[in-house]
Amino acid sequence: MSHSASRRKFLQTSTAALAAGALASGARDVHAAGSDTLKVGLIGCGGRGSGAAVNAMRADDNVKLTAMCDLFEDRLEQGKRLLGRQLAEKYAVTPEQSFSGFDGYKKLLATDVDVVVLATTPHFRPEHLEAAIKAGKHVFCEKPVAVDSTGVRRVLESVREAKRKNLSIVSGLCWRYDYGVRETVSRIKDGAIGDIRSIQENYLTGPLWHRGRNPEWTEMEYQQRNWMYFTWLSGDHIVEQHIHSLDKALWLMNDEPPVRAYGLGGRQVRHEEKWGHVYDHFSVVYEWANGVRCHAYTRQMPGCFNQTEDFVVGTAGTGKVLAHELANLAGEQTYKYKGDKPSMYDVEHKELFAGIRSGNIINNGEYMSYSTLMAIMGREVCYTGENLTWDEMMNSPMKLGPDSYTWGDVEVPQVAMPGTTKFPKAKA
Ligand SMILES: NC(=O)c1ccc[n+]([C@@H]2O[C@H](COP(=O)([O-])OP(=O)(O)OC[C@H]3O[C@@H](n4cnc5c(N)ncnc54)[C@H](O)[C@@H]3O)[C@@H](O)[C@H]2O)c1
Repeated sequence: MSHSASRRKFLQTSTAALAAGALASGARDVHAAGSDTLKVGLIGCGGRGSGAAVNAMRADDNVKLTAMCDLFEDRLEQGKRLLGRQLAEKYAVTPEQSFSGFDGYKKLLATDVDVVVLATTPHFRPEHLEAAIKAGKHVFCEKPVAVDSTGVRRVLESVREAKRKNLSIVSGLCWRYDYGVRETVSRIKDGAIGDIRSIQENYLTGPLWHRGRNPEWTEMEYQQRNWMYFTWLSGDHIVEQHIHSLDKALWLMNDEPPVRAYGLGGRQVRHEEKWGHVYDHFSVVYEWANGVRCHAYTRQMPGCFNQTEDFVVGTAGTGKVLAHELANLAGEQTYKYKGDKPSMYDVEHKELFAGIRSGNIINNGEYMSYSTLMAIMGREVCYTGENLTWDEMMNSPMKLGPDSYTWGDVEVPQVAMPGTTKFPKAKA
């Protein structure tokens, strides 16, 4: 067996043996082989993918970026130029290890990478994650992980398969890797403000980028390049962006999903054709079985009040998670995090690689799937005006987007209309 084949075999089997508790003396072997070079492949070379590749290369002494893939050749080449400059000797991507097109990810997964970074538009995550786990790769998986119920179920199946194969899935829900947020959430969960009675999640911000329309592009190319504004690609901004807040609410609630939700939303400012068919504001009430409610607000509008924060009200005090602060009921500060603040994006990758090397594999799969479904639930209650349950969300046949991908025409859905648009429920 070649060195690299034996190393890969080691990476796949040593952790399995450890997890099974079969190798009491195996830890020494793990640490010895754990100094081998880990090869990383990047799928989706945009802003976050390129950033994640830099975080990954900073996180471990012995890693190399060896393969890259993007839907578009120009994005791939742009990413290669950028990362070639930034990563110096850790950049080892050859033309043979560079791939594009809708099937490019399959070619990347057929290379000898050990770890893949999944950072495309959200629509493709279920398909790419499934293929990555089938190919035996450890995964860094950007949020959100799906745009519909069918996608979430497919991701959950891959999460179970990753557990069976002892493969890592580290989620890009980065606040769970921020030391100050971790400590604040941990204190709240330990009872520092009593029992949680209510949560308010604000993600109020301005608009994001738009990449224009080139008359030579087909509708498919236009939508792919401006994916934020098409629900089948992004999930809408409540799924694409507000998921960070909803994930913190889920975490505070011990990763127990809410039982039902209702909400209001619309498209007040971004009504021109260039903004596709997504909304520009959502306001959702999530209810848990124990009566706790989370009031979740998100807006992408210029010229308005902006704020991103998680407000928690307990029986004995209050908390602001992003500010890392707790107070008593009189409003006096009882805690403020003042510890280390390394980049949470670096920490994600440090913990991913440390887990692979030690055999303590990380799998964030369940909470990343539940946070995604919680965000989809928020979108759907606003799009339809219905009051929907978690079970209806989890079991829905909802599947967005075309069945296959070609560079031609693709439908532009109607803007959802509450009271008229219907949520697709599973048949009883
Ligand atoms: N965790 C965070 O803080 C954070 C921050 C920003 C973005 N994100 C997430 O990262 C993902 C990417 O966002 P971005 O800002 O980098 O967007 P982007 O548009 O800059 O990059 C996405 C890239 O993926 C490519 N792509 C799309 N479909 C593909 C496919 N089928 N195969 C290969 N490549 C494909 C696109 O061509 C594009 O280059 C999104 O899911 C987004 O929500 C997370």
